[in-house]
Amino acid sequence: MTQAVMDERNFVIGPGGMLHGRLRVPGDKSISHRAIMLGSLAEGETRVSGFLEGADALATLASFRAMGVSISEPDHGRLRVSGVGLHGLRQPSAPLYLGNSGTSMRLLCGLLAGQPFESVLEGDASLSRRPMKRVTEPLAKMGAQIDTAEGGTAPLTIRGGHPLTGFRYDMPVASAQVKSCLLLAGLFAEGETWVREPAPTRDHTERMLEGFGYPVLRDQGWVGVAGGGCLRGGDIDVPADISSATFFLLGASIAAGSEVVLEHVGINPTRTGVIDILSLMGADIELRHRREVGGEPVADIRVRAAQLHGIRIPEHLVPLAIDEFPAIFVAAACARGTTVLTGAEELRVKESDRIAVMAEGLQALGIDAQPTPDGMVITGGALAGGWVDSHGDHRIAMCFAMAGLCASGRIEIARCANVETSFPGFAELAAAHGLAIRAERA
Ligand code: S3P
Repeated sequence: MTQAVMDERNFVIGPGGMLHGRLRVPGDKSISHRAIMLGSLAEGETRVSGFLEGADALATLASFRAMGVSISEPDHGRLRVSGVGLHGLRQPSAPLYLGNSGTSMRLLCGLLAGQPFESVLEGDASLSRRPMKRVTEPLAKMGAQIDTAEGGTAPLTIRGGHPLTGFRYDMPVASAQVKSCLLLAGLFAEGETWVREPAPTRDHTERMLEGFGYPVLRDQGWVGVAGGGCLRGGDIDVPADISSATFFLLGASIAAGSEVVLEHVGINPTRTGVIDILSLMGADIELRHRREVGGEPVADIRVRAAQLHGIRIPEHLVPLAIDEFPAIFVAAACARGTTVLTGAEELRVKESDRIAVMAEGLQALGIDAQPTPDGMVITGGALAGGWVDSHGDHRIAMCFAMAGLCASGRIEIARCANVETSFPGFAELAAAHGLAIRAERA
């Protein structure tokens, strides 16, 4: 597979404005990945609606096509996966290129460790810097043979054909990607594979396995699977991604006069830390019409502007809001008083070092933001205009775009093309609801 070349883009945000109206942000990225993976491994057809047609989930889709799975072309979030069963994947004829997507790489690594063939996983410059030993080491304990680049990074060569044996693994980091990787490997292992996480993380894999009729074992904080079962395809309605909705929660909270309703957002309790944190800061957020769709809780979220205040962020909320800290940092910059985050060293190994890059960007806009090894101390103040480098990190680009609502001058954000990985159409949707944003070719 060849490496897609994305045209680089910058965002230019006129200062001021407010957000208004009802909108639905694109589908949940985590659930979209898993719908393709489990749909491919299932018996029978899986029909997906609400699929995120962003570069990350499309990289997963392309990988399964390259392994012989027939997947219809996504059309407004609808697609069909013709499952090949747990043992029906074919060896890809070339390395699988996963772009910017850590979820694709870590989950596929577990799934491919259990195949009878060899495969190679590659990523872009950011993904090729991210730690992969957190999955390759426990997989090796199950019997997998995986070669990494020096330092334990991609490319990964997964030497299939080595039988896996189930085991028990006490995870050192709270990571849904590691948990999911090992559970997926466990589907192909002899016996039972159990993992325990140091703090709860998103449980979409467990929910979808059960939705596909695969028993998930639970015992006093441990979660596991027994190898050799069978998945049955079905319908998946992917809710809107709370991580994408977050940018509108932020923008509407900080821009006086704003009121927005975000429709059909996934509110799985392992994902709603951002609502808890913003609410502790004084945000005016209301969940309406709570319902359950295909095993995942969903609601419409109404958010209105409010005066935010600084808080000490409770550490137990960190894994439940792990992707939302760029936006929470901007909220803290617009709040009265000081916000303190600790226990979040994981932010340093995301698509960028989100502690360093956010501190640099906030400082460029005149905010007192002090990075610490595992978090940040931010004192709210007056946001000026300025130039910010997103370092190619989608969530950093989008949170600084929303900062423009509160800034006294124009904000220019460099290297925004990767917004396509999780939120295609972000600039257009935000502009339609009141943000003065222009995307320019770099
Ligand atoms: C994800 C898990 C999280 C998150 C990522 C998606 C997933 O990573 O940051 O965007 O879909 O499992 P970690 O589990 O490594 O924290």
